[in-house]
Amino acid sequence: MRILGIETSCDETGAAIVEDGTKLISNVLSSSLKLHAETGGIIPETAAREQIKYIIPVISQAIKQTNIDTSKLDAIAVTVGPGLIGSLLVGVETAKTLSYVWSKPIIPVNHLIGHIYANFIEQTDCRLRTTAVDRRPSTVDITFPVIVLIVSGGHTDLVLMKNHKKLRWLGGTRDDAAGEAFDKIARLLDLGYPGGPAIEKASERGDTSSFRFPRPMMDSNDFDFSFSGLKTAVMRNVILRRQPKNLMGSFAFAQDDIADLSASVQQAIIDVLVTKTLKAAKQFMVKSILLGGGVAANELLRETLEVGCQKLEVKLFAPAKSLCTDNAAMIASAAFFNYKPVPWQKITANPELYFD
Ligand code: KG4
Ligand code: ZN
Repeated sequence: MRILGIETSCDETGAAIVEDGTKLISNVLSSSLKLHAETGGIIPETAAREQIKYIIPVISQAIKQTNIDTSKLDAIAVTVGPGLIGSLLVGVETAKTLSYVWSKPIIPVNHLIGHIYANFIEQTDCRLRTTAVDRRPSTVDITFPVIVLIVSGGHTDLVLMKNHKKLRWLGGTRDDAAGEAFDKIARLLDLGYPGGPAIEKASERGDTSSFRFPRPMMDSNDFDFSFSGLKTAVMRNVILRRQPKNLMGSFAFAQDDIADLSASVQQAIIDVLVTKTLKAAKQFMVKSILLGGGVAANELLRETLEVGCQKLEVKLFAPAKSLCTDNAAMIASAAFFNYKPVPWQKITANPELYFD
């Protein structure tokens, strides 16, 4: 079954065709990231206006890349939430129109569930394997039950997945998401947007033990997270270390300070994420852990979790890095494994959508 996925929940405009939920046939992504880098964060209206410009070219490109006629597509999958309302509407209304014109079934997809299914696409990296060939397993290797850690710009959630139909939300962030913490702290350090990759890069030259930042809720008796205190702790250190650059209130940092602050904060965030994920894996006696969301591209997170997984004899799956951040392939995959078409008239964007 070939599904055309459409994703426009945040600043990306994505279209992809995936066969049987696992085989990536085409994947096109247009991002307005550069515009947001200029403003230090996403401006929702700018994102939606860009998506209106790019949605049709992106979809036609995804179809053209395959040499597959639209009559050979079996269904359309679209992200209906959570996300920015203006952005979601662009994808949802386009998908509904195509469903009507092409007479194809349409499947609404929760963006967070989409992040889980990035693991089911063939390029998934299984970390517990030893040889290079082994590191590209078929998704058949994912045996339920699994613990999923979803870490994105808007969400930090731990989910117990007993099968494709049974998901149990175990806990999530009470304030900032992990990606949001990276973004806000990067902004404090003048590292630009998006903050996660910038902090990861700056950390390469830094010492993780230079600053002892708090590990909020790391040992709490639940599966919740909190990252806003970390931001405040970094801010205190930043204020102490900044040197006035000019009279307009602009500041400069010593490069070593930035590297050390970045490495220490990255370590603090990863320590909390890894501790809680492994705790969930132990408690629910799962055989696999799945990562999803933009922060899952972080190499320290992947490596640290891999070490913990080896001790527990649990397999760690992480999507290819390009499929960790928002994309339409994961939406098409999620729709295949949860094939529930809905009449197009009943499909609406829901910015607040969460786990049921
Ligand atoms: O999943 P995603 O593309 O969008 C949302 O659904 O939110 O995630 C974007 C988030 C941003 O906060 C970004 O800073 C973070 O993922 N991110 C990273 C890395 N790459 C992206 N965080 C840490 N390390 C990375 N390498
Ligand atoms: Zn996302």
